[in-house]
Amino acid sequence: MALSFAMDIYGCQMNQYDGDRLRTVLTQKGWLETDPSYADIVIMITCSIREKAEQKVLSEIGRYGRIYRTKGRPVLAVVGCMAQNMGLDLLRKFPQVKAVVGPRHIGRLPDVLEGVLNHKAVAYLDEDPREMVDLEVAPLVRSNPFKAFVTIAHGCDNFCTYCIVPYVRGRFVSRHPSEILKEVNELVESGVIEVTLLGQNVDSYGKDFDNGYRFSNLLRDVSRIPGLLRVRFTTSHPKDFTDDVIEVMASEPKICPAINLPIQSGSNRILKKMNRGYTVEHYEEIVNHIREAVPEVAITSDLIVGFPGEAEDDFKDTLEMLKRMQFDLVHTAAYSPRNGTPAAVMPDQVPEEEKKRRLAIVNELQDGISLQKNLSLIGNVVEVLIDGYAPKGKSMLQGRTPTDKVVLIPGDEDMLGKLCQVHVTNASHWYLYGEIISSKDFSDVLEVKL
Ligand code: SAH
Ligand code: SF4
Ligand code: F3S
Repeated sequence: MALSFAMDIYGCQMNQYDGDRLRTVLTQKGWLETDPSYADIVIMITCSIREKAEQKVLSEIGRYGRIYRTKGRPVLAVVGCMAQNMGLDLLRKFPQVKAVVGPRHIGRLPDVLEGVLNHKAVAYLDEDPREMVDLEVAPLVRSNPFKAFVTIAHGCDNFCTYCIVPYVRGRFVSRHPSEILKEVNELVESGVIEVTLLGQNVDSYGKDFDNGYRFSNLLRDVSRIPGLLRVRFTTSHPKDFTDDVIEVMASEPKICPAINLPIQSGSNRILKKMNRGYTVEHYEEIVNHIREAVPEVAITSDLIVGFPGEAEDDFKDTLEMLKRMQFDLVHTAAYSPRNGTPAAVMPDQVPEEEKKRRLAIVNELQDGISLQKNLSLIGNVVEVLIDGYAPKGKSMLQGRTPTDKVVLIPGDEDMLGKLCQVHVTNASHWYLYGEIISSKDFSDVLEVKL
């Protein structure tokens, strides 16, 4: 009988990418993907970015543990950032956990899973943050047939003082362009029409090459792959962002006019303590350049409130900054101390209650801004790639505009994977609502666009 596995994916898009590659390898080995309640093994791809992210995984490990104690199944493989962060403790504390694999050793997992099922515990942690045993496969078996992620650089060397990523994902290394282009070509052959290039800081792509090949070169090369209709990328870093990226965005029609440029704080004093390497003024200059060159662009950002030492005045600067910047969307979070990072031991930690209060205030302000932005789109016709069912019910579909806004649309299965012209009829701060005016089959679109 075929062995069965389930995937339980947390955290960022890099984990989605790793999840899809693991799916691909295991499916090719003859394993069957099922629901976690039937699986022999559950592979948890985990995140450590905030305490809450880890707590979620720990509570799931506990829940699986109760089932494991009565049935002897499923065993758990804990992979990714939290596996690296908690290491052998996970094996010691939880008998249901049989494998702990850091993000840079994910390539070891497929070969050891059968042993793991026979209760042979293994740990592959990233002791040398430069070493890498990757999965040598494109994500051909995906959670979404039309869209795929591709990691273009591993790790991060920026060491923002609040962030655990450099400790759990290891040192920065760019993947070779030929490898990335080959992978995207394979993805297109397998039905992908939209690809998102991933890195913790895509703007430092290529800095470890000696031939001058940079992120803008890669963006152009990827966007010229025949059959691919949309190219996205994330995350940009204001410290390393350069105008050549804007030029490629403006000149290559397949590159979506959407950019996530995390600002993190509106106070220069706090940005300095965060070790972000830019000022609010420099950030605003970049945004102005982008908006001038790509007027239809949607700019989103990330923001942390309650960083150690954030005084009321710093917080006010952040609110003023949000009003000025008019972002389309902001991913906000209360600062969460991460063991081993410099900020966790900085003086003047902000009390939890105060962080919550500030978070509620920024969310209310930004929700209003996002809503106004979205309301202004009512009556417009936007291009939407329909890529799945809406969270509620199968009579509603969802897709994204080139600017990465989620649109909910009544429709049926036939529309999946199609590019549609959609009339925007309503909006909330999170979603647009619309009706399909016309649709193009992906093969039609190819004829028109190529
Ligand atoms: N590399 C990207 C983001 C990676 S983490 C960048 O440089 O922006 C995603 C987001 O999580 C960050 O932008 C930050 O806003 C948030 N984050 C990271 N560490 C955090 C912490 N300790 N507490 C709260 N939010 C955090
Ligand atoms: Fe974390 Fe900063 Fe690296 Fe982003 S750039 S992953 S916030 S250390
Ligand atoms: Fe989380 Fe690791 Fe991504 S900490 S956000 S899964 S890089």
